[in-house]
Amino acid sequence: MAKVIIFSGAGISSESGISTFRDSGGLWEEYDIEVVCYYDSLDNNEAITIEFYDKRRAELIDKEPNKAHIEVAKLKAKYPKDISIITQNVDNLFEKAGLDDVIHLHGFMTELRCRECDNVWDIGYAPSSSSYDGKCPSCGAKSRPNIVFFGEQAPQYEKLNQELQDCEYFVVIGTSGNVIGVNTIANAVENSILNNLEPSDAIEDELFKKVIYAKASDAIEEIVLDIEGYLE
Ligand code: APR
Repeated sequence: MAKVIIFSGAGISSESGISTFRDSGGLWEEYDIEVVCYYDSLDNNEAITIEFYDKRRAELIDKEPNKAHIEVAKLKAKYPKDISIITQNVDNLFEKAGLDDVIHLHGFMTELRCRECDNVWDIGYAPSSSSYDGKCPSCGAKSRPNIVFFGEQAPQYEKLNQELQDCEYFVVIGTSGNVIGVNTIANAVENSILNNLEPSDAIEDELFKKVIYAKASDAIEEIVLDIEGYLE
């Protein structure tokens, strides 16, 4: 288990042109969460839900990792065993920056999952319907985006809990803390950094050892130096 956890949210990808969820102009201002991202969205609003994720997936094709993803990837390559990268993001920008072992807590946009047998497969940036006619290649049942909707189980949360057992240094980049609470973790861990653009109502920033309100791309060098200083 790693000593350092770098825990990110939508803010780390916003400078790459991917909308956050709750900032002004964010996705949840434009779309109704309950329509496209609830446990019953596929039962009640199947067409619009599939279309929403098809659009988000297609948008990823030309998105590039920014300085924050790239520096995190370099740091992880330097200390592979000491650092875990855990993200709430479903985009593939860490992977485009060269990482292959990121824990995606809320799913992964370029994958589909079978609604019956849980088979998961990659479809790149294509629409769901273009992959085996929207069906599972293994059992033939309907496919769905491999995204965790509100009210559904998030199987990777168990990995987060495991990783937290040995965590000595908790670094938060670009999350409002509304879905996964970071306060308790920051309170329990010896060292911590919070980097967001601005304060969030859901985060008690006095619980963090260091707070940097700035763009992730501007904050990342300081964050990397602090982590290197700790690990060396
Ligand atoms: N650099 C650093 N932080 C930034 C930047 C930036 N360039 N731009 C925005 N932020 C910060 C904002 O200050 C805000 O605190 O990123 C945060 C984005 O918060 P949210 O939009 O709520 O995103 P996130 O916390 O990742 O959402 C969690 O909610 O709807 C779900 O499943 C979805 O995984 C997502 C979860």
